[in-house]
Amino acid sequence: MVLTNGKVFIINTKDNSYVFHVDETGLLLHDYFGQHIEIDNYDIKAISQKNTILKGTTTIYKEDVNPNLSMDVTLLEFSFPHKGDYRSTPILLKNNANGYVFDFNYEGYEVNSEVKIESELPTPRDPDEELIIHLREKHSNVRVDIRFLVFFDSNVIARNITIVNEGSEELEVLKALSLQLDMFNNNYTVTHFTGGWASEMHENTTSIKPGRIVHESRTGFSSHKDNPLFVIRSGTSSLDNGEVMIFNLMYSGNHINEIELNTYGLLRVMSGISPFCFDYKLDKGQSLETPYAVFTYSNRGVNAARNNMHNFVNNHVVNPEFKEVVRPVVINNWEATNFKFNESRVMKIAKHAKPFGAELFVLDDGWFSTRNSDTEGLGDYDVNKKKLPHGLSGLAKKINKLGMKFGLWFEPEAVNPKSKLYKAHPEWAIKNSSVEPSLGRHELLLDLSKKEVQDYIIENVSSILSGANIEYVKWDVNRHISDIPNNEYVGEFFHKYILGLYRVMNILVKKFPKILFEGCASGGNRFDLGILYYFPQIWASDDTDAFERMRIQYNYSYGYPLSCISNHISSTPNQQTLREISINTRFNVAMFGVMGYELVFDELNKNEKLRTKQLIEVYKSHREMFQYGEFTALESNDHSIRWQITSKDKKHAVVGVYYILQEINPQETFLSVKGLKEGKYTISGLGLEHDIREFGSSINMITPFYVSPKGKLVAIASHFIKMPADKDEYKVHSSELSSNGIKLNPQWSASGINENVRVMGDMSSRLYLIDIIEEESTQESEQK
Ligand code: GLA
Repeated sequence: MVLTNGKVFIINTKDNSYVFHVDETGLLLHDYFGQHIEIDNYDIKAISQKNTILKGTTTIYKEDVNPNLSMDVTLLEFSFPHKGDYRSTPILLKNNANGYVFDFNYEGYEVNSEVKIESELPTPRDPDEELIIHLREKHSNVRVDIRFLVFFDSNVIARNITIVNEGSEELEVLKALSLQLDMFNNNYTVTHFTGGWASEMHENTTSIKPGRIVHESRTGFSSHKDNPLFVIRSGTSSLDNGEVMIFNLMYSGNHINEIELNTYGLLRVMSGISPFCFDYKLDKGQSLETPYAVFTYSNRGVNAARNNMHNFVNNHVVNPEFKEVVRPVVINNWEATNFKFNESRVMKIAKHAKPFGAELFVLDDGWFSTRNSDTEGLGDYDVNKKKLPHGLSGLAKKINKLGMKFGLWFEPEAVNPKSKLYKAHPEWAIKNSSVEPSLGRHELLLDLSKKEVQDYIIENVSSILSGANIEYVKWDVNRHISDIPNNEYVGEFFHKYILGLYRVMNILVKKFPKILFEGCASGGNRFDLGILYYFPQIWASDDTDAFERMRIQYNYSYGYPLSCISNHISSTPNQQTLREISINTRFNVAMFGVMGYELVFDELNKNEKLRTKQLIEVYKSHREMFQYGEFTALESNDHSIRWQITSKDKKHAVVGVYYILQEINPQETFLSVKGLKEGKYTISGLGLEHDIREFGSSINMITPFYVSPKGKLVAIASHFIKMPADKDEYKVHSSELSSNGIKLNPQWSASGINENVRVMGDMSSRLYLIDIIEEESTQESEQK
């Protein structure tokens, strides 16, 4: 909630406080961001930076007013260049009268509890309150509004700026970032997430030293090269302790995050639209609004900060039509067929998937025109009648008859030069008249900065969506932007493309409110809060290998809730890595989020089919928790990873334990579970039966006579004899669970073939289901 006396501004969320004030010079000085503090009578002396001496060779902002204030050594709420701050600043402006020098001073503020924002940009929904600070540059009459949106329960603040040209001459905006947050350094590290196609979200953590760290995307999209999400934490923080700040930008285009530590130990964190090829012209009366930067803080470690972000995205970003709505289990044909399918093949895939719990069939790329490879046909969404003689509506009807919903893939933003659309409208593709355009996956992007192109896409997609019973759309885009046009808007192009995309998405999701849209950009090349504002889930990566996915999904979870992360179980060997991973582990990884299939079910053997049926039941009976529960990381080291998901009522949890390589004499392990209600619980480990052939010659340890491990006898016996599933089943009190008390059965260590041994292997995993049997009354627990 916002408290102010017109000079000091305090923004309180449930657990945090954010404080700044107006200095006598007219500058905004930043005082505090951290755990909640009580401030009496707006007395901020203790938390404010003390500017009591003048540091050598500094430029003094207004010597007559405050002889000790140099912007370069001061924590500022909003800075600008050429007045003494030699760090990177959030804005860079230019006009004829001022050149590059603009001097912004505080003018006034507004606090509103009824927040109504009309914007072309995705704006976080239902803030509790807003604070707007008005700044003015007197000479040019340019106004800057800093807007703070407060999300009390999620402990999130969203901040953006709007530059309004109230002067008489044209203003050039060369840089306009949304977030500036200055603070003292506290041995902080910064983590950002880099990658490429099928290798999204690699975690990179570096300690912050004097100098500037820049993370940026220049591809036109938020990009898998550098997700806009980043984390700043103290070097001593951990999963459950210490200072952690998580930042993200609600934007799908080029972004920049700048982290600068100056020689005085002042840290500046900034985030916003990348200034790369950014040159926005504002005529008199025009304004530019920047996307929202969102951020949270916790002094209780990564898990608490992450959960703030999850609450925020689930409650204030995602389209309310899909808020808390459990997402269907889809079966997508892409990995199974690529472009090579026809109606009977896809019907077979759907039919085979049905008994394994699939609820929605998604027809992927290749259903239209001459699209039999990625080289042609993109843009022409006339159904290929050779493949689908009964059209989309005929196929949808057949799928519906199976008791499943029907979904469809599109790539509406792109066009193959070999297409009717391109021949009819070559001018709609993004091109620069002076050079030949470069292709990406044999395609060009359509110029969504043009209204006629936006309207065409809206109409074209709408007519297909209206022509069949389509209940899900996978909205793909498969290249980066290049060759930006050399027209008068060249410096505005990147941003205008994204505004055009948002307009198209906004109109379509409003027109088809019941359709579940899934974002995709060759996997996670546009996995961001801007997309999530319209499309409630995103295909996380074209890499479906469970081992890789563990890291990819885990790293998304720093800023994105599990309800947004779409994960499919695919066949082995995995198409991307050629790795063989058991169906058990493939499930155990994909279940933490929105699980679906790309499997060819008739390739599964009997045991795999049995396991699939067992696990889909577990998934479905815990689905709400897997998608909307509280996600907690328990441990992560070179040998194993553990996660927990907890139901909202804190009476149920599932823990996933993953081992990377089988070791001999691995460390004994225990199971501990966090944050459950007091009471009595059952723990049930989903052990696995094993085929006796998995044990090779060790089988002779238990046979009465010698058998050849690869011989006929063992092969026949394997049909009748199974090695028993390991059983870790207990009844315990919650206090035992939260301690380090539950000691699990030992792992196989070259010996022991019985139900009290966990036979794991490489890339193996177990799920432990934890359910309350008897809740303890508060009175009872108080008496203890
Ligand atoms: C992209 C997507 C895939 C698939 C193909 C189809 O790569 O990420 O899932 O839809 O396009 O061409």
